[in-house]
Amino acid sequence: MTPELVDLGDPAFQADPHPSYASWRGTGPVRRARLPSGLEAWLITRYDDARRALTDPRLSKKSFPMGSGQAGGGSRTAGTAPPAAMGPGIGAAISKHMLAVDPPDHTRLRRLVSAAFTGRRIEALRPRIEQIAAELLDGIEKEKKVDLIDAFAFPLPIQVICELLGVPAEDRDDFREWSNAVVAGSQAGPKLGPAIEAMVGYIHTLLAERRAKPGDDLLSGLIQVRDAEDRLTEEELSSMVFLLLVAGHETTVNLIGNGAYLLLRDRAEWERLGADRGLLPGAIEEFLRYEGPVETATFRVATEDVEIGGVTIPAGDPVVVSLLSANRDTDQYPDADELRLDRPNSHHLAFGHGIHYCLGAPLARLEAQIAFTALLDRHPDLRLDIPAEDLRWRPGLLLRGLEELPVSL
Ligand code: HEM
Repeated sequence: MTPELVDLGDPAFQADPHPSYASWRGTGPVRRARLPSGLEAWLITRYDDARRALTDPRLSKKSFPMGSGQAGGGSRTAGTAPPAAMGPGIGAAISKHMLAVDPPDHTRLRRLVSAAFTGRRIEALRPRIEQIAAELLDGIEKEKKVDLIDAFAFPLPIQVICELLGVPAEDRDDFREWSNAVVAGSQAGPKLGPAIEAMVGYIHTLLAERRAKPGDDLLSGLIQVRDAEDRLTEEELSSMVFLLLVAGHETTVNLIGNGAYLLLRDRAEWERLGADRGLLPGAIEEFLRYEGPVETATFRVATEDVEIGGVTIPAGDPVVVSLLSANRDTDQYPDADELRLDRPNSHHLAFGHGIHYCLGAPLARLEAQIAFTALLDRHPDLRLDIPAEDLRWRPGLLLRGLEELPVSL
């Protein structure tokens, strides 16, 4: 019997998706789902199937249906497909990046930037990231209560990715607004089109400025390989900048925010980590597994009939892998719904798997390590200001993060 179609646009589901995923993993782990945009796709919910899907070359990143708002987004823009009403030039300016293409284009584009994201290169950023974290905490030293997302979890990664690329951080508030609309996808409503256009305009201006005045940053380096060596097209260049900016902060904000929430909803965990910092690297992996920043931003399309979990996905059909669900699969993790800061290496899928495995994973891990160390050092008495059940999750299906995290310092 074919499992029933499920509606992922349902606000009740989005507010607390874990119980639904648990039931679907049992009653039809590969099933049809309606995305918030209205598009129907195959939803993959179990760990083994997710791993297989993420590495199967027959599930392509190209040709995810356009005009589908949030749905189209995962592959094309890490956020959204441009709405149908938008000109093709705008769409192409943000959709020709490595996360939206297959080899050989994927290999070529990823190689252009991979050297900047190796563990060694990223580790060299540690002192500067520590300084940014310290400055942000200095800025709220006199406050008694803050929204930890707004004051810390958001500005830290955006400042870091802006500096790495060579983008002025003053623009970050505008940027945040557009980027929020982009990742909310179809659920951003009429704000989506203007947000994408504004973002594309912004990226074009940045590129023009940096062309006129090159610096010692990643953006200038990319312009050089475009202009002098012709190793990527202009659209691939602007799409790369778009991807790095959006992927570089929309996710890490949730790692810091979700992790802080998990520690503070039961302060014993906060105290335990404070007393034993050796737990921190493992704790970060457990935050990623337990309440990872990316829910379903994993879009693919079957290029031929593909069998997964006993179900044949017909050629041409869109596929969505729920990383959030896979990481709570009790066949992989017997006590999956328990947060265990000392869980041994769990091979979670929060950064994806296979050729599109997150390029920024070393950076995200380093930022989280620095963020939690700084918070525990400076604010050992940190506590939630409202009951954990009253916290609201951001709408949308691509990412998993809190709207606000009100805390007392
Ligand atoms: C790809 C998660 C931070 C850049 C991915 C994918 C996931 C992911 C799941 C693969 C999606 C798929 O297969 O469809 C995360 C999480 C982060 C994070 C959970 C934070 C905790 C970052 C950062 C950057 C970044 C800081 C920095 C620039 C990228 C890029 C790709 C990617 C460029 C595409 C890689 C490719 O297609 O080869 N990320 N990410 N991410 N991520 Fe991240």
